[in-house]
Order: sequence, then structure tokens, then C-alpha cells
Amino acid sequence: MTQKRLAILGATGSIGCSTLDLVRQHPDRFKVIALSANTQGNKLFEQCLEFRPEVVVMGDDKEAKTLQDRLNQKNINVEVLTGASELLTLVQLPHVDIVVSAIMGAAGLRSTLAAARAGKTILLANKESLVMTGNLLLQEAKKHGAILLPVDSEHNAIFQCMPPNYTCGVRPVGVRRILLTASGGPFFKLSSHDLDKVTPEEAINHPNWRMGKKISVDCATLMNKGLELIEACLLFSMTPDEIEIVIHPQSVIHSLVDYVDGSVLAQCGTPDMRIPIANMLAWPDRIGSGAKPLDLISLHQLEFYAPCHNKFPCLQLATDALRFGNAATAVLNASNEVAVAEFLAGRIKFTDIAWINQKVLGELHHLAADPLEAIFEADNQARALALRIIKMN
Ligand SMILES: NC(=O)c1ccc[n+]([C@@H]2O[C@H](COP(=O)([O-])OP(=O)(O)OC[C@H]3O[C@@H](n4cnc5c(N)ncnc54)[C@H](OP(=O)(O)O)[C@@H]3O)[C@@H](O)[C@H]2O)c1
Repeated sequence: MTQKRLAILGATGSIGCSTLDLVRQHPDRFKVIALSANTQGNKLFEQCLEFRPEVVVMGDDKEAKTLQDRLNQKNINVEVLTGASELLTLVQLPHVDIVVSAIMGAAGLRSTLAAARAGKTILLANKESLVMTGNLLLQEAKKHGAILLPVDSEHNAIFQCMPPNYTCGVRPVGVRRILLTASGGPFFKLSSHDLDKVTPEEAINHPNWRMGKKISVDCATLMNKGLELIEACLLFSMTPDEIEIVIHPQSVIHSLVDYVDGSVLAQCGTPDMRIPIANMLAWPDRIGSGAKPLDLISLHQLEFYAPCHNKFPCLQLATDALRFGNAATAVLNASNEVAVAEFLAGRIKFTDIAWINQKVLGELHHLAADPLEAIFEADNQARALALRIIKMN
């Protein structure tokens, strides 16, 4: 068996650590060539000790210097590079087979695009890359022979339920609809009035999944499902009308594909991100993930509900952004990143996130998405406007 050689971007995050756990379980199958982190030097140091990459990239200069010194003291031969541009070097290393794109937010876009242009197999967790660029990432992947494999649990579930030999970006034959499930987040049952008072600590306390803070807040506002709706439309070449969002609080059915003959295929499992990551790391083979087996008897019951758009307006904003076209999805993503960061910092209320996003999208949805730099310009403008709105209120 040939070992697959990995570059893991965002190695210190929730997805990065789950990926490394799979490497730990399957050292014969996977070898870590490169890792990246932003500020968590200590965690990256521990990962270097255990996985011995050739090269790592740190966002923070000071942390990078400390990390290099500590590795030198231990006589561990790892090259430490600094800064966002070095992520591009890392994904283009000729002996890297798989790039795990698991940086949080828009910061993951340039490296994911570079991996596509380098013709790599990309395990895509960073949904923002697709949300921001629309079809561009898929087109670049196709042009350069890169393979995009979805790690997001719902998209991975859909991918697993697609016809054999399915390629992302292609309209699947015989598929009528996709049912995209959502846990509903921690506030699914809360009244609109009570939503006004929720704290960041409550918002990041997801009932089923342990994730980074930003995506956890997105799950609570349902913006994550909105971003996933955009991601699904692009990855599976479907329209928003062909994708139904279903709230399923147990997070056991990770999504379903409805075929024209009435057959509905679902992928199920315990809520553990190691399952979709293992599926894509070993693809087209199957390997153990370490996740607990699904125990349906002890679950007793699976529930399904329609989403409440009045309580969670972010979901509709994502559909609106898709319909606007242009750079609207990038604008929405940028505004949301700012609003979530401000909420986590305690400067705005949970319910402010949605109206700030709505205002920014309303004002900037017309911005152009072509060429690529226009997307970054739209991202910048949306961030600046979101901050201005927050300051004025
Ligand atoms: N967690 C999940 O279960 C899950 C599921 C589906 C999809 N995703 C997607 O996967 C991505 C990562 O999510 P996560 O939950 O793993 O996030 P996370 O735990 O917050 O980790 C984010 C990672 O990105 C790095 N990072 C953050 N900002 C950066 C920047 N400006 N430049 C370079 N690196 C940066 C972090 O480094 P430091 O640790 O040094 O800050 C960390 O390694 C997101 O796009 C998310 O939507 C996550």
C-alpha cells in the first residue's frame, strides 16, 4: 500500500486535530508532510513532536520564532515558515498528495485555490472557499486535474449517497432533490425573545458536535446551514429550490439524496467528524475512524422539523445571496465573519448578527465577483461596512 502524503492546513483546529487522530490510527496509510496554524504555537509544537512534518507554517511571527527555537533545541528537523503567503508554498510541494483545507473562514481561500491549481486532492472543510468564489474553485480544480472531496459532514453524506463514480461539480443523474439536515443548534427550542439574551458561551455549546467557535455560533444562528446550502448548490450543481433544509436535532442522519424513482438514500452515523474525514482520506477505500458505532435502540426516536425562518433569518439571507449572484455570497460571508467575531467579543447581541448581515448584503450584493481580486475587494468592503454599522449602533 502506498502511503498518502498530507498537508494539513489549520492543523491545530477541530478538523485538523481529528485528521491527525486518523493519521495516528493509520500510520501505515498516511504520512504528514506539512502542517499549519495561526497562533497556537504550543499545540503545533506538540504536533511536530508526534508527527514529524518536514515543514510547518505559522501565521504569527513571534510564535513561529519560538517554535523554531524549541524544535532546534530538541534537534527536530522541521522548517518553520511564517505568513499567509507561505501556505501557498506548502500546498504546492510536489510530494504532497492530499491537502486538508481546514483553516477557519476567508483566510483559507487563497491556499485552497492554490491547492486546486497545483492539481492536488483537496479534502474540503473550509466551506468559505466555495461560498466566496462560487464556481471558480470548481472550475480551477477541473482545469488543473485536482479532486475536491467534501469533508463537511452533510456534504460528505450527500457525496456518499450519490451515484457511483460521482465527481463534485457535476449535475448527478437521476437525482430529484437533496435533503440537507441541520441539528438546529443549541437554541432551536428557544423563543425569539430569549434569543436576545444568549451569551457567547451558550452559543458555542453545541448539543451534538465539538467544533471551533466561529462555526459553532454559525450553527446557532443557522448561518452555517445557509453557508452549507450555498456549498451544496455548488458542489452538487443543484438549485436552492432542489435542496430542502430539515431540522433533525439528533444529528444521526447527516443528509439524504432523493432519486427520481422515489428511492431516498441517507448516510447515518454518530456525530463524529472523524467519520467523514476518514471516508475522504481513504477514498475510495474505507478505514476505521475510531467513532462509536451507531446505537439506534438507545436513541429511541429521530425527529424532523421545518426550520423557523422568522427566528433564524440567516438561512434566508444565504438563499437571497445565491439568487443575487455576483459577489453576494462573499459579501454575506465576510459580514458574518465580522458579526460573529464581534458577538464572541461581547460587543453585540446574538440577534444583531442577522440584521447586520441583512443590511450589508442589501447594500453590497451588486459587487462584482470577477476577476478573483474583485471577490477580495467585495470581502474587504463588506467587512468595513459591517464594522461601520456596528460602531453606529
Ligand atoms: N469543526 C467542525 O466540526 C467542522 C465541520 C464542518 C466544517 N468545518 C469547517 O472547517 C473549517 C475549520 O473549522 P474548525 O472548527 O476546525 O475551526 P477551528 O477549530 O477554529 O480551527 C481553525 C484552524 O484554522 C487556523 N486559523 C484560524 N485563522 C487563521 C488565519 N487567519 N490564518 C491561518 N490559519 C488560521 C487555526 O489556527 P490556530 O489554532 O493557531 O488559531 C486553526 O488551526 C471551517 O471552515 C469550518 O466551517 C468544521
